[in-house]
Amino acid sequence: MTTVKIIKLSANENCYGCSPSALKAVQDKHKDVHLYPEVNPLALKEKLAEKFRVKTSNIVVGAGSVRIIDGLIQTFVGQGEEVLTFEKSFIAYGQFAGFHKRKCHFAPLTNLQCSPENLLPFINDKTRLIFIANPNNPTGNIISHIELEKLLSKISNKIIVALDEAYAEYVTEASFPNAVELRKKYSNLVILRSFSKIYGLAGLRIGYAIMHEELAAKMAEGQIPFSLNYLSSSAAIASLDDLDFVKGSALANTEQRDFLFNELKKLGYNTIPSHANFIYLWFETDTAKTKTYNTLFVNGIIICDMKVFGQENALRITIGEKESNQKIISVLAKWL
Ligand SMILES: Cc1ncc(COP(=O)(O)O)c(C=O)c1O
Repeated sequence: MTTVKIIKLSANENCYGCSPSALKAVQDKHKDVHLYPEVNPLALKEKLAEKFRVKTSNIVVGAGSVRIIDGLIQTFVGQGEEVLTFEKSFIAYGQFAGFHKRKCHFAPLTNLQCSPENLLPFINDKTRLIFIANPNNPTGNIISHIELEKLLSKISNKIIVALDEAYAEYVTEASFPNAVELRKKYSNLVILRSFSKIYGLAGLRIGYAIMHEELAAKMAEGQIPFSLNYLSSSAAIASLDDLDFVKGSALANTEQRDFLFNELKKLGYNTIPSHANFIYLWFETDTAKTKTYNTLFVNGIIICDMKVFGQENALRITIGEKESNQKIISVLAKWL
């Protein structure tokens, strides 16, 4: 019996692993996991504050950025108030609004682009929180600095705009927002970042946000003590120091993303340029999509069928290593 090597390209993890320094930080601490973690990860906050030239009081750290997304809804969206995001975006925004019994509106995309203008008709006096994933998951496109500033200038500063930059380190496009700069002018802008993507620490569950200190203080009131694990903040600190790992991952991703995009196009797939570590494919029918999914699946390549997130006729492929991407193309070319 021949065994097929499984290639998992369904969750936008870093296919190059994580920084060796992060692994060392985990090894150095693993014998002490009988101890509780720190309640306030000050050393990590100091590192992030230095990196982004903000104060530690502007930083919120959570067990994954999803925990901060949940915390934003829990803290700032009262009963009867509403959340707004785009349809075809990260599932957690609507899902967590639902958990908290808050209404979430979904603005449409225009030609698969998250046009901030499309949010405006959905804003009313109950809107408290807007989530924008930039780059957007699953479509991979971005809104620009100019577009973001235009939106911020048009809405009340009582509405929090949470800009989810989980994939920011993969972006090479110059028009990508300098959100840290914009936040100085717009105190309602919250920037969310993750250690799960380019830093390769998804399994350790750690993310952070930069926000106005009053917002951060309110978030802290509802924080569950010891919700970070004992290993994650040390690994995160070590990762931030390993710029070569981040640069290397971003560079390899760009090269492989171009390869996959061009080859999928040549094979006739509907796709759009991505700024993240994944690529979006859409299909006329569910049957066409399922056939592509199954062809890869039987060859050991697991990608994401967007149906699991309630989005029809679309697939998302995480950009893997060169060999994985070459295998995708050769399997699909042979089948077609
Ligand atoms: C846009 C976006 N934000 C946040 C997350 C979650 O990140 P974390 O692992 O830090 O909770 C993801 C994960 O896929 C994502 O796609």
